[in-house]
Amino acid sequence: MIEITSLEKAEKFVRERVKGYDSGHDWWHIMRVRRLAKYINEKEFSEDPYLIDIAALFHDFADSKFSGADQEKKFEQVTLFLKENGTDSYIDQVINVMRYVSFSSRKNSGGIKDSLLEIIKDSDRLDAIGAIGIARAFNYGGYRNNIIFSPVEDENKNSTISHFDEKLLLLSSMMNTETGKKLAFERHQFLESFLKQFHREWNSAAF
Ligand code: ADP
Ligand code: NI
Repeated sequence: MIEITSLEKAEKFVRERVKGYDSGHDWWHIMRVRRLAKYINEKEFSEDPYLIDIAALFHDFADSKFSGADQEKKFEQVTLFLKENGTDSYIDQVINVMRYVSFSSRKNSGGIKDSLLEIIKDSDRLDAIGAIGIARAFNYGGYRNNIIFSPVEDENKNSTISHFDEKLLLLSSMMNTETGKKLAFERHQFLESFLKQFHREWNSAAF
C-alpha cells in the first residue's frame, strides 16, 4: 500500500510530461485506461489497487512514438520517481508494463503470467476500439498527416482505414482477461458497423 500523496505526486508527474502527446495518448487516455483497469481488477483479480493506478499512470510513459530512442532513459526516470516516493516495491512490475504493454512489441514478458500486465494491456486495447478507438485512430492519422482512405490499393497502405485491418479489428480476439473479452465484444461490433457504413457511403451509386 502506498500513501495517497504518492499517488497524487505520480498523477502530477505524468500529467506534466504527457502535455505534448497527441490527444489519443493524452492524460484522458491515461484516465480511461486507469478506470478500465480498476474495473477489470475489481471484477476478476484483487491486485493492489494502488499498483493498478501507478501502472496505468505510467503505461505509455516510454512509448517509442514519443520518446524515440530514449526509452531506457524513461525507465530510469520512472525508477527514480518510484524510489523517491516510497514505492520501490512497484518498480519491476511497472517497468515490465511499460516495456511490454505496446501492441507493436507483441511480447509477453518472457511468457510469465503477469496479471497486472494482462489488465493494463486489455485496458489499453479496449481504448483503441469502439467509438473512442475510432476517434483516436483518425486523430492519430491526422497528426501523422495520413490519408483517411483511398480506393487505390497502393495509396491506401498508409491510410487510417487500413489501420483497422492491420490492428483495430484484431484487438478483440487478443484480450487476456474475461472482463476484457466481454467489454471488447460490443466495441468490436461498433468497429464493424462503422466500416460497413463508411464503405456503403463511399461506394454509393445513388444518393
Ligand atoms: P500501442 O500503444 O498498443 O502500441 P499505439 O500507440 O500504436 O498502440 O496506438 C495507440 C492509438 O493510436 C490507437 O488508438 C491506435 O489506433 C492509434 N494508431 C496507431 N497507429 C496508427 C495509424 N497508423 N493510424 C491510425 N491510428 C493509429
Ligand atoms: Ni496507452
